[in-house]
Amino acid sequence: MLPEPVLSVAREHLLSLGETGIGVLEHSHRGDVFGDVLASAEARIRRLAAVPDDVAVLFLQGGASLQFAMVPANLRSRADTADYIISGTWAMKAFEAARSDGAVHVASSSQDSDFRNLPGPPECSDQPAYLHYTSNNTIAGTQFATPPTPPDGVPLICDASSDIFSRPIDLHAHDLVYAGAQKNLGPAGLTLVLIRRTLLERAPDSLPLIHRYATHAQSGSLYNTPPVFSIFVTELVLEWLEEQGGLESIADRNRIQASRLYDRIDASHVLTGRVGLCARSSMNVVFSAGGKEADTRFLEHCRRAGLAGLKGHRSVGGLRASLYNAQPDAAVDRLLEVIDAFEAEQAE
Ligand SMILES: Cc1ncc(COP(=O)(O)O)c(C=O)c1O
Repeated sequence: MLPEPVLSVAREHLLSLGETGIGVLEHSHRGDVFGDVLASAEARIRRLAAVPDDVAVLFLQGGASLQFAMVPANLRSRADTADYIISGTWAMKAFEAARSDGAVHVASSSQDSDFRNLPGPPECSDQPAYLHYTSNNTIAGTQFATPPTPPDGVPLICDASSDIFSRPIDLHAHDLVYAGAQKNLGPAGLTLVLIRRTLLERAPDSLPLIHRYATHAQSGSLYNTPPVFSIFVTELVLEWLEEQGGLESIADRNRIQASRLYDRIDASHVLTGRVGLCARSSMNVVFSAGGKEADTRFLEHCRRAGLAGLKGHRSVGGLRASLYNAQPDAAVDRLLEVIDAFEAEQAE
């Protein structure tokens, strides 16, 4: 979801960005008007997440999936091993991408529990190029409460695609954070990368320019045409986030929404949560009504109540309530009513 006020403002600017008489989709990405949008988006990101000066803010494309390949291509030399924490499907995909052309090591994994819990502390290889983890596991419904600790001097890399800016993020503990914009930041098409500048020059000479973080940092994210509209809407979402009181405030709201739902599921005789208590995500609440047929009936209740998108990911089935930043409290109220009605029907 995107915040409704953001969508309204975006709609106005489709015909004329500000007073320019030219719509946002028609402005040159190298003109001053879009330059101001890009600069404002970066400034808001720096303010919201307290991004230190030694961390570059990059606006890229290709989704988190391209980062799965760019991270090892830029940061791991031929002689190095890259370490991965395997906490879900997306972590596995990041690992597979790194494994396809170099040495990798599984530092910890929760695959044995079918990703219902988080992996234990990482056991790293000797001087790995970096340690990679996924802060929120969108499909499994688990989330790290705090970042894992890599050995001294080992960069910590985070795929934050499904919880970026849903809570404060410690950019002293991390060396590279990336996220596809489409969950909490804006429309699909933009990938945000926050990278410590000391990592920019690690890429081997053979790496094509477009795949190098340094290329994008040096060109102010304008090496090629950036996803102008996604950046524009993201800038509006960042403004909205500031108006909400910033990341602490949005984290409180997300936590309260998630607790209301988890508490209700815990109290239910009919519904069961999928993941361990300590691993629960405040972004993706994964649960089941007790089997395929019951889940389908639950989804029908949701549909009648005007709630969409609660079908669990096809790989795990069941149900999933995604509580991304723009989800209003009223949607959680409505879902709790649906649960009451569903339980009452079951009792008949
Ligand atoms: C945690 C996580 N990582 C990576 C991805 C893949 O993102 P993209 O489609 O932007 O490549 C997703 C998509 O949902 C995700 O949730």
